[in-house]
Amino acid sequence: MDEPLLDPRVLADGAGGRLLLVIGGGIAAYKCLELIRRLKDRGIAVRCVMTRSAAQFVTPLSAAALSVDKVYTELFSLTDEAEMGHIRLSREADLVLVAPATADLLAKMVHGQADDLASTVLLATDKPVMVAPAMNPMMWNHPATRRNVAQLKADGVAFVGPDAGDMACGEVGSGRMAEPARILEEVLERLAAPRRQRPLAGLRALVTSGPTREPIDPVRFIMNHSSGKQGHAIAGELAAAGADVILVSGPVSLPDPPGVRVVRVETAREMLAACQAALPIDVAVCAAAVADWRPAHTPEQKIKKEAGAAAPVLQLVENPDILSTISAAGPQRPRLVIGFAAETENVVAQATRKRARKNCDWILGNDVSPSAGTFGGDSNQVTLVTGDGPPEPWPATSKREVARRLALRIAGALGHG
Ligand code: C5P
Repeated sequence: MDEPLLDPRVLADGAGGRLLLVIGGGIAAYKCLELIRRLKDRGIAVRCVMTRSAAQFVTPLSAAALSVDKVYTELFSLTDEAEMGHIRLSREADLVLVAPATADLLAKMVHGQADDLASTVLLATDKPVMVAPAMNPMMWNHPATRRNVAQLKADGVAFVGPDAGDMACGEVGSGRMAEPARILEEVLERLAAPRRQRPLAGLRALVTSGPTREPIDPVRFIMNHSSGKQGHAIAGELAAAGADVILVSGPVSLPDPPGVRVVRVETAREMLAACQAALPIDVAVCAAAVADWRPAHTPEQKIKKEAGAAAPVLQLVENPDILSTISAAGPQRPRLVIGFAAETENVVAQATRKRARKNCDWILGNDVSPSAGTFGGDSNQVTLVTGDGPPEPWPATSKREVARRLALRIAGALGHG
């Protein structure tokens, strides 16, 4: 039966990941053409590098037509280097596949030899590498190849095949390149694995963290005990789960979480402006302990203590509520808005009320009475109130674990879990 013109599993190009296919010089190279077509059908962007001997078996033109991309063959091609250096070529992929992986290419990989484009790309890549060996059975079983295979496996290179059977050279034994369908399966599995571990990939997240500092005059301020540890941990875990994270932080003495863009602010009004500038986003987690009030007037000069004069009276005005503002952002409202309710008593009742009042989706209630040791400590006990089912008390655990759990819940709610 003819194949349907449009396979229902066909995905947009690149949606399934990006593969750099290094085609080695062996008779099995012709199977790569079918492999490229199947990969493309599954939404994988394929970019090919061919060795000089590969071009004796299949033409770069065929690989270019099927991959719908340029095929790279020369290490010292001025045009290639100008458009796409070999380092970029090796990095702009999620996986590198060598097929057919000849005995020569395997040996070069073991020794880090880099005397042509294919071997240079393999030495320069920071991505996982998979090889589909194909060679004469005597070559495959030669002690030199055995040593090379063992070394490459120890280096973390993944193998698919070879299969046993009739060889093009007339001999029988192990050394046939794995069939394209099997290689495709392995490639799909390897491209999917990191996505499963990065369930928030493609989502933008905003996290507020730390206290805000509201000036009384140029030398004095109002602040609170927030250390920023919980907010920073959440930003770090969201980034580890693949989200693109902006962390808007008040003054804290914590290192920036890896992989997170940090915007440093002092006052509540600066924090609000930074959050609004970060929109649109998919999820907001407001973990900052924003000062509810700020001094109404901040003189330019230090307030003086005059002998015999009465103590100055601080007049306070309310700060903007960042969580409520984000929750009411109309068309720019994130799909999920999460707040904290730091309370010293009746945590769940207060959290439930706060969720309704601030119009956010979820609230994490936590006990910040001094005996709980939450402020500045490394552990936390929170209760998640979602409005969907009863409040969920989470066990007392580290702030990092609370953050990890929250990241998973967010992934589940936004359909990436
Ligand atoms: O009203 P309360 O300060 O207890 O609310 C706590 C929640 O509201 C936290 O998520 C906090 O980050 C957020 N909040 C805010 N802006 C404020 C006050 C609180 O985003 N001005």
